[in-house]
Amino acid sequence: MSENTAQLTYQGNTYDLPVVKGSEDELGVDISKLRATSGLITLDVGFKNTGSTTSEVTFLDGEKGILRYRGYSIEDLCEHSTFSEVAYLLINGELPTAQEFEQFKVDISRHTLVHENVRKIFDGFPADAHPMGVLSSLVTSLTAFHPESLDPNRDPKMVDLTIHRLIAKLPTLASWVYKKSIGHPLMYPENKLGYIENFMKMMFGLPVEDYEIDPILVDALDKLLILHADHEQNCSAATVRVVGSSQASLYVAIAAGINALWGPLHGGANQAVIEMLEDIHASGGNVDKFIEKAKDPEDPFRLMGFGHRVYKNFDPRAKIIKKHADAVLDKLGINDPLLEIAKGLEEKALNDEYFKARKLYPNVDFYSGIIYKAMGFPTEMFTVLFALGRLPGWIAQWKESRNLNQPISRPRQIYTGEVARPYPTK
Ligand code: SDX
Repeated sequence: MSENTAQLTYQGNTYDLPVVKGSEDELGVDISKLRATSGLITLDVGFKNTGSTTSEVTFLDGEKGILRYRGYSIEDLCEHSTFSEVAYLLINGELPTAQEFEQFKVDISRHTLVHENVRKIFDGFPADAHPMGVLSSLVTSLTAFHPESLDPNRDPKMVDLTIHRLIAKLPTLASWVYKKSIGHPLMYPENKLGYIENFMKMMFGLPVEDYEIDPILVDALDKLLILHADHEQNCSAATVRVVGSSQASLYVAIAAGINALWGPLHGGANQAVIEMLEDIHASGGNVDKFIEKAKDPEDPFRLMGFGHRVYKNFDPRAKIIKKHADAVLDKLGINDPLLEIAKGLEEKALNDEYFKARKLYPNVDFYSGIIYKAMGFPTEMFTVLFALGRLPGWIAQWKESRNLNQPISRPRQIYTGEVARPYPTK
């Protein structure tokens, strides 16, 4: 038996299955011909052991705590790059030359405004609507104002225009949701500002006074968005690829990704972490009670921000964010009791057999909310910030799937319901 073939034996028949080896020596059994040759399918609820695609976008090693975008480590990118450059890298596969990067920034800045009639749709939402539902609705509405996006197989220039429009408009739409929730006038983008600066001004600026850009906040948000930019086949990226596989428009594939990210088990966890820490704080800071609740199989409560499908060691993003949390709060002169509670919770959990046996460590969402809160973002906007960061990764995953001309995603199942039965005669 060769290194690149696996064998399946069933009822006296043996089937050879090719083994695919990735550039980081990951191995996968290719079962694309399994049903045709054996009549068997595989069953893997939640796809815990199933690869949906090959990909050149992001590599992560859950055991070693490695995360790289197009081969560059997140540590290097946080140190030397910017979110806009990382967006270009993820979407195009290579770091841009100086000229390419300038053109990319100009292309983005040309599309930061949103059609004024989208505001009329937006006006219909109640001020207290959850930002993620509003955001996904408004992104879907862009198909009505840019119908040329409806055919993703159209010329590549149109696809690039749709990508630029999405990256440019999401910060504008995200800031509207926040401004409306606090009764402030909506802000318009200012194209001479950088991507992060523009977003911060739309979020926290007022039309009646100058907005002073704080480089500490800009740098912290830039790094947080880099750390959220992609994460291979996570729930929302897989959703974007599935919707994209039907050849629906990129706008609705991204809107579907926003909706998948909203769930508290996925991107919604950053909001749930802060709500959990606030509950602990309100109950006197007793983390032991919450640790016991999380361990109780009868109690649905989970330690939000802990555990990960892939990372069975520290989430490398959590390490960087935790370090930044200390630095940002220190620079801002903020002493947030939730940070100390989070550190206490982490310490207790990492020394508790239940969490150690299950390899549950802090993930990207455990500390990010503490920085967002210190920067002035309300809790309900945290998952919107996750979506803002993840947008280039979703686009890169969608683009790769379209360029590979992958077939429509349509999983099989094992039926376990009623067998054939006649309709009862009256
Ligand atoms: C993100 O996939 C990605 O890459 C996602 C993401 C990205 O960048 O896109 O990294 C972003 O979504 C991070 C995860 C954010 N979610 C949370 O923090 C929510 C809390 N965590 C969990 O619900 C859970 O850990 C998941 C959803 C993240 C992972 O779930 P899995 O892989 O399906 O694992 P599981 O539910 O089968 O758990 C295995 C065991 C179970 O116990 P037993 O049945 O074996 O006794 O661990 C327990 C679980 O009950 N467990 C937890 C726990 N997480 C898992 N117990 C208490 N608290 C937790 N947080």
